Amino acid sequence: MKIISLIPIFFAATLMVACSSETPDSSTSAAAPAAKSLYDRIGGKDKVKAIVEDIWNNHAKNPIVKDRFAGSDPSYVKKRVFEIFAAATGATDVEYKGMDMKSAHKGMNINEMEFNAVVDDVLAACAMHKMAQQEQNEVLAILWSVRKDIVNSHIITDTLVN
Ligand code: HEM
Repeated sequence: MKIISLIPIFFAATLMVACSSETPDSSTSAAAPAAKSLYDRIGGKDKVKAIVEDIWNNHAKNPIVKDRFAGSDPSYVKKRVFEIFAAATGATDVEYKGMDMKSAHKGMNINEMEFNAVVDDVLAACAMHKMAQQEQNEVLAILWSVRKDIVNSHIITDTLVN
């Protein structure tokens, strides 16, 4: 008697599980659109050019690094920095024509404080151009990825890059 009274409950439970299980939905099976590159999300060529302009201006005012760039040709450095920024963020129509980061900074004896100052200048320029936090985080990750090629390895003091 007890078993018979449990049968409807068993069927009801089975039915609920069957109804709640996910069934493939043809409306969601189409290929997702390709994700936009960081370069496009930032705003493309004009926006990156404007950011690079402010990176240069920030360096020129930053007491920690301004002397490093005192003898540089601004238009040359801005051109190379635009190219590397664009190429590293996924631009398909910009080619970086400069040196690799290790060769470009070889023998400069750049320390961590200087590296962090440059990163600060870059992110400040990004913020000035209202770049969203997510995109700023991605820019920071790119900068961090080249740190070991730029900072003199003898003065990198943490263990992250070793
Ligand atoms: C944070 C990441 C950095 C990136 C992505 C970067 C990128 C570049 C690029 C693309 C060039 C041009 C290379 C070429 O001539 O082919 C360059 C040159 C240079 N960088 Fe950096 N750099 C970084 C950090 C630094 C730091 C921390 C310093 C020193 C404070 C520095 C000082 C210089 C100097 C002095 C030059 C030579 C400019 C000239 O040719 O007159 N850079 N950098």
